[in-house]
Amino acid sequence: MKIGIIGSGKIGSVVGTLWAKAGHQVLFSSRHPEQLDELVKRAGSNTSRGSIEEALVFGEVIFLSIPYVAVQEFGRDYGKRLGGKIVIETGNPYPDRDGAIGQEVRDSPLGTGIYSQRWLPNTRLVRAFNSVWDQTLVSEAHRDGDQVGIPLAGNDGEALRIVSDLVRQAGFDPVIVGPLERAKDFDFGSKVYNTGMTGAEIRKELGIRS
Ligand SMILES: NC(=O)c1ccc[n+]([C@@H]2O[C@H](COP(=O)([O-])OP(=O)(O)OC[C@H]3O[C@@H](n4cnc5c(N)ncnc54)[C@H](OP(=O)(O)O)[C@@H]3O)[C@@H](O)[C@H]2O)c1
Repeated sequence: MKIGIIGSGKIGSVVGTLWAKAGHQVLFSSRHPEQLDELVKRAGSNTSRGSIEEALVFGEVIFLSIPYVAVQEFGRDYGKRLGGKIVIETGNPYPDRDGAIGQEVRDSPLGTGIYSQRWLPNTRLVRAFNSVWDQTLVSEAHRDGDQVGIPLAGNDGEALRIVSDLVRQAGFDPVIVGPLERAKDFDFGSKVYNTGMTGAEIRKELGIRS
């Protein structure tokens, strides 16, 4: 599968590299793509680098991993190019970094799934990879025994199935929590946020049977 990474920082670089190693074609993008040569060298022959525009054209799936405050503007600038695509969005609202919008999302009972959906309309949005620390992704991918769980929320069943496969291929246990309104169950401050729980532990904690 061709995956366009937007935001090749701590999370984007780690997850993109895991997918490239699993055999996917990955284009890492940046507002300064010339700074990604080292990453592409490290991540191997299934990877390339380019602009955000190039990632949008390249990706059958878009992995959007940028500061949460930037997601709204990103949707305004690139929304038309994202129409109908599977977009995996990882952002967490941190008021110190994201200002008033970060505080608004934190204070709201709606959760990030609803905000991200408003900002990225017409996409097949899946919230995922927001609840696990980047260093946990680095050290625990493909570990033996029960794997670390990655909770997912989305409204499009096929997108959830495709992203579940991608989570498995990255070396983790996908946990489909429900539609986007359920993304709040694994937002910052929830019982399963940044705990390193296995998939089984997350299912138990959130009362998910499958
Ligand atoms: N680090 C973690 O452990 C962790 C875990 C789960 C979720 N998250 C969340 O996932 C998101 C990414 O986290 P991160 O730690 O990977 O952050 P990061 O290392 O700072 O990387 C974010 C990337 O976003 C890009 N970016 C920044 N502003 C942008 C804008 N206005 N438009 C487009 N791209 C922009 C930057 O790329 P260029 O400057 O190269 O364009 C940067 O490399 C955040 O919302 C974070 O809260 C982080």
